[in-house]
Amino acid sequence: MNTTRFAFAFLTSFSVFQIQLLTADDAAVALPTKSTLVIHAEQGKNTISRNIYGQFSEHLGACIYDGIWVGEDSSIPNTRGIRNDVVAALKKIEMPVVRWPGGCFADQYHWEDGVGPRDQRPRRINASWGGVVESNAFGTHEFLDFCEQVGAAPYISGNVGSGSVEELAQWIEYMTAATNSTLSDLRRQNGRDEPWKIPFVGIGNESWGCGGQMTPEFYSDNYRRYNEFVKNFSGNRIYRIASGSNGDDTNWTEVLMRNVGTRMNGLSLHYYTLPTGNWSKKGSATVFGEADWFATLNRALHMDDLVTRHSAIMDRYDPQKKVGLIVDEWGTWYDVEPGTNPGFLYQQNTLRDALVAGITLNIFNNHCDRVKMAAIAQLANVLQAMVLTDKEKMVVTPSYWVFEMFVPHHDAQLLPSELQSANYQFGTNAIPEISASASRDNSGKIHVTLCNLNPNQPAEVAVDLQGAKAQSITGQVLTAPAMNTHNTFDNPDAIKPMDFSAFKTTDSGFNVTLPAKSVVALEVD
Ligand code: AHR
Repeated sequence: MNTTRFAFAFLTSFSVFQIQLLTADDAAVALPTKSTLVIHAEQGKNTISRNIYGQFSEHLGACIYDGIWVGEDSSIPNTRGIRNDVVAALKKIEMPVVRWPGGCFADQYHWEDGVGPRDQRPRRINASWGGVVESNAFGTHEFLDFCEQVGAAPYISGNVGSGSVEELAQWIEYMTAATNSTLSDLRRQNGRDEPWKIPFVGIGNESWGCGGQMTPEFYSDNYRRYNEFVKNFSGNRIYRIASGSNGDDTNWTEVLMRNVGTRMNGLSLHYYTLPTGNWSKKGSATVFGEADWFATLNRALHMDDLVTRHSAIMDRYDPQKKVGLIVDEWGTWYDVEPGTNPGFLYQQNTLRDALVAGITLNIFNNHCDRVKMAAIAQLANVLQAMVLTDKEKMVVTPSYWVFEMFVPHHDAQLLPSELQSANYQFGTNAIPEISASASRDNSGKIHVTLCNLNPNQPAEVAVDLQGAKAQSITGQVLTAPAMNTHNTFDNPDAIKPMDFSAFKTTDSGFNVTLPAKSVVALEVD
């Protein structure tokens, strides 16, 4: 075996040390590129809120009906009508918070339609999504039962677009008041004695669009009026979230910060990743080449720019960072799967989505001084879903696995880091090929999550761990042979995390070699 072959044999087992024996003559081999990551283990001061790992569930397509709710009489195993398999899957990723009932649907939703005996609830047209008939079988009690079954905090999205101040005020009283008011008594009559705690309330959704086509000035005034009547009853304390900007619209943020300021606790931001950037032809979820891969990841990286720019505006009005940036809708948005209802937004989820999730969650971690909550769209069967269901079958997606791998970051202390990334070059364009974030949990363990965006080459990252020593490291990797590998009901484990050991401690930290197109999570003790 000559030196080249000897070294290559080690390369395939991701041994960092031997890779360095390769010579320039080996240019044809997919050599790892080199990047560096300095982690300041001694400088952590901000907490990564677990609420960054939140979910969004809307009355849209099969998200609620089939995805969460099957009804008590269903043959699909359920607890009070809620799917047991979905609850179990969400518990594993420790879903901290879930937003409901929309989205656009929230601004057409009237809560009284969804309480009381189910067979007497009105049927309404879901004019936001597909024009289907909404049975209202899943309403306030069912949603809050779902939250309790998973152990997640509810985030209620209030109707500002077509509702009234009185309606939202009464919904809050119905859910949270411990008194014997008529509304609390109605709640008891409908089966719930104790009031619920409702920690998060959104005042409108996309008020610049489907939530009412408002200007930021008009919405600011509306926010102030609605907010005044959203009361804290019986010890419940509400974190109030204002409807925020559409992606790059920094003027919305400017006006809200100026006119509303700290009357809100959080200001939302919505941004979706479309491979083409073109809403009328977004691109396929599963049939794509490297150009689409590159374009999608490039657009996912734009989240960093957005968070930075919106945060800079917020910093001017709120230097103490009292108002959180709440990215309560994010994720990939493709053309719907062929043959499915265009109004249902059903799409598959591949390794590419896992990379989008890893990149985005690393961005949120690194901006946790301002980003206090986020919600990927959506929980089941819609857009970048955690789970896909088909009657009694359920499969978890590659994005789900990224959420599972990132659980150790929940409520951990962010460790500031500096990344010098090699480029992933495609044609004449280039983006950084590494994405990373690091945290320290309560027990002192350090967690590092890394993505290699390059689908063609492994990437070596030299990690300089300042203020800590790597005694032992364990890891997991999510990757697959093809960029579009995905799980199906027939092949549910086509892509799932595997044990990972392509790292080696060094005097200053460790070196790790990330396989091409991968997400890696390391625990350093
Ligand atoms: O998540 C799908 C839709 O996208 C939501 O209803 C809306 O808020 C956004 O435009």
